[in-house]
Amino acid sequence: MKVLVVGGGGREHAIAWKLKQELYGGDELYVAPGNAGTEMIAQNVPIQANNVNALAEFAKEKNIDMTFVGPEEPLVLGIVDSFQEHGLSIVGPTKAAAKLEGSKIFSEEFMIRHGIRHPYSMVAKNPREAMDHGRYMLLYYGGGVIKADGLAAGKGVAIYHNERELRTAIKTVMGKRPKEPVLVQQFVKGQEASFIFFTDGENVQLWPHTQDHKQIFDNDQGPNTGGMGAYARAPVITPEIEQKIMKTIVKPTLSGMADAGKRYRGIMYIGLIISNNVPYVIEYNCRGGDPETQPAMALLQSSLLDMGYAINEDNLNRIKPDWSPRSAVTVVLASQGYPSDEYKKHLGKEIFGLDRDDVIVFHAGTSRLPDGKIVNSGGRVIGVTTLGNNIQEAINRAYAAIGKDNDGIYFDGMLYRTDIGAKALFG
Ligand code: GLY
Repeated sequence: MKVLVVGGGGREHAIAWKLKQELYGGDELYVAPGNAGTEMIAQNVPIQANNVNALAEFAKEKNIDMTFVGPEEPLVLGIVDSFQEHGLSIVGPTKAAAKLEGSKIFSEEFMIRHGIRHPYSMVAKNPREAMDHGRYMLLYYGGGVIKADGLAAGKGVAIYHNERELRTAIKTVMGKRPKEPVLVQQFVKGQEASFIFFTDGENVQLWPHTQDHKQIFDNDQGPNTGGMGAYARAPVITPEIEQKIMKTIVKPTLSGMADAGKRYRGIMYIGLIISNNVPYVIEYNCRGGDPETQPAMALLQSSLLDMGYAINEDNLNRIKPDWSPRSAVTVVLASQGYPSDEYKKHLGKEIFGLDRDDVIVFHAGTSRLPDGKIVNSGGRVIGVTTLGNNIQEAINRAYAAIGKDNDGIYFDGMLYRTDIGAKALFG
């Protein structure tokens, strides 16, 4: 058996970690491009995740049996179509189906056509229109959100609550690409949650519900990041709300995609805001969340590989994933300066305390130097992941493993939030 994981972040380390437990002695596990953590459990392949043709050639040459794709970019570029043309099995949506994440305007029009509840939105073709629409949202909803149409690696979203913040939001999102359209959305007050599942386009197997922490600072302050930590299970999704989401969002999404000839297979992540018990879709993602995939993989007790085969064979109804009933938490350690590009000035710092067995250490932006030292080489660096009999226990374990004073994991300039999971306890 030969398995390939595409990507090089914490999510991909978590997927590779899970697969590694399922593989046997003679099996081969590859990660492209991977990081210093995946290098310890798999063979890293020096091909970037967005180099779709090179990955397909590599998989063909190696006779890879199954490929899992972590990040959105290769999916939006059509890695699944490319692998399928070569007769290779791969888990993920086709290019046409990945457009649900690839274009915010496409997904907005899709939701309107299928009556899926989402914040009121308008398309702005330039900064002036964004300002006009933005003022409208301020007047009627007390705030809004500016969203880039295409992929922006977590940096294409800015929230505002007054005119000054609106100007900054437009600059942040449109600054480098003033001619590309954006979506201007109503601000909906509520708690965010990540609703993630495996699907073959018809059948659905839910992940434990998770919650990310997108802002850089405690209490959801500061600019958006790719995600500073996640936990499972998020109590904001009650069984009643789950049923509502299945009926009013998941089912019409999958049937709408299938009816349009874009049957969606793989992992779908619906970003929601739950406002007064009503779920609003704020985004579709065509992959597992990062960091959400880290606590989820820590809880998955049955085979991930089997899920991949069932998705490919369109018979996902035949297996149910077995999730541990325990709680899981991931606290992300980031480089100084993140999420602005400032972090690039603070790379190459040695990371201490990684060798421990009381937590699961998922690597993201890490590299191994020729002398064996592991250093930070990206914005998000490590995902400290723990299990507990309840969320408080998992939180305590994670924070006990972080920081120089604790004899825990640390590196110079390390940034992390101290309130990951608190919403599960205090709302
Ligand atoms: N956790 C946010 C994302 O994966 O998009």
